[in-house]
Amino acid sequence: MVTGQESAEQAAAPSKPDRNLALELVRVTEAAALAAARWIGMGQKESADQAAVDAMRHVLHSVRMDGVVVIGEGEKDEAPMLYNGERIGDGSPPQVDIAVDPLEGTTLTAKGYPSALSVIALSERGTMFDPGPCVYMEKMAAREEFADLLDLDRPLRETLALFARRKGTDIRDVMVVMLERSRHDEAVKEVREAGARIRFITDGDVSAALLAVTERSPVDLLWGIGGTPEGVISAAAIKCIGGAMIGRLWPRDDRERQAAIERGYDLAEVLDQDRLVAGNDVFFAATGVTDGDVLQGVRYEGARGATTESLVMRSRSGTVRRISARHDRAKLRDITGERFG
Ligand code: FBP
Repeated sequence: MVTGQESAEQAAAPSKPDRNLALELVRVTEAAALAAARWIGMGQKESADQAAVDAMRHVLHSVRMDGVVVIGEGEKDEAPMLYNGERIGDGSPPQVDIAVDPLEGTTLTAKGYPSALSVIALSERGTMFDPGPCVYMEKMAAREEFADLLDLDRPLRETLALFARRKGTDIRDVMVVMLERSRHDEAVKEVREAGARIRFITDGDVSAALLAVTERSPVDLLWGIGGTPEGVISAAAIKCIGGAMIGRLWPRDDRERQAAIERGYDLAEVLDQDRLVAGNDVFFAATGVTDGDVLQGVRYEGARGATTESLVMRSRSGTVRRISARHDRAKLRDITGERFG
């Protein structure tokens, strides 16, 4: 029995380091990246995604946890694996929410473009924001020093001027990263008229969010409307690596708006990283598929070898690890079949 005194002592004592799940999760993203990399430039984004999903799920089941997928490949009837609500792991504690994107950047992979990743995030059960029927959200992300300047309602040109002032530079030195989409046309005009610069990405705003919050990054601000799953995953990463992010659900049409309202979503709410992922013990792992600003992609070496680069982080300890791994493809094939070859 735990006495009152013992529990008070426990509360006062610094918590002991325990298992860093992220170190197990990196095996999961490595496997997915190795599988997806076989499809680089092949023009088949569904096959690339399927290979990543299959490999990720294969390894994920070996992780000791009781996980439920909150951000997955979609509803059960549209995704046979890693669907929202699927139970993952061997069922032993800890109880966690899981967000996965086995291949963030399916088209990037199919075309061999930069910055495709395999990514997973975990947090305590019940702490991950479920975006429900909303596919898109408005997003802003930047380094910690700009946190108080993030505002989805202030005109972008004014925010950029504030960024320039905070940096102590001319507005021409400010760089915004955004998805190249027609829904951003107005914003593009505004940024250009303000005199700031834009780095367009064709896909992959998780990688762009990571770039925006990185110290000495060429990019100051991620802005734009992108996927809600990617928003939750970016928030998990930012809780680990530092920086700031805000978002707001952005229904595509009246039907989606109505569905969200009926399910109790407040469409005006500004969601920061602590609302998107409320847990204090967040684990994050990402492995590069194609080469990018944040991570090097999978490289093949000789007849049997392959290398991967991963980012492995935990919010509670604040540890950020970059893990380079060399894999023996022949041995992996012996263990798992053709999956990672
Ligand atoms: P994939 O699902 O093909 O991997 O694309 C990912 C992505 O580019 C995200 O990074 C981004 O948030 C979202 O798609 C944007 O959606 P859309 O392509 O519909 O504008």
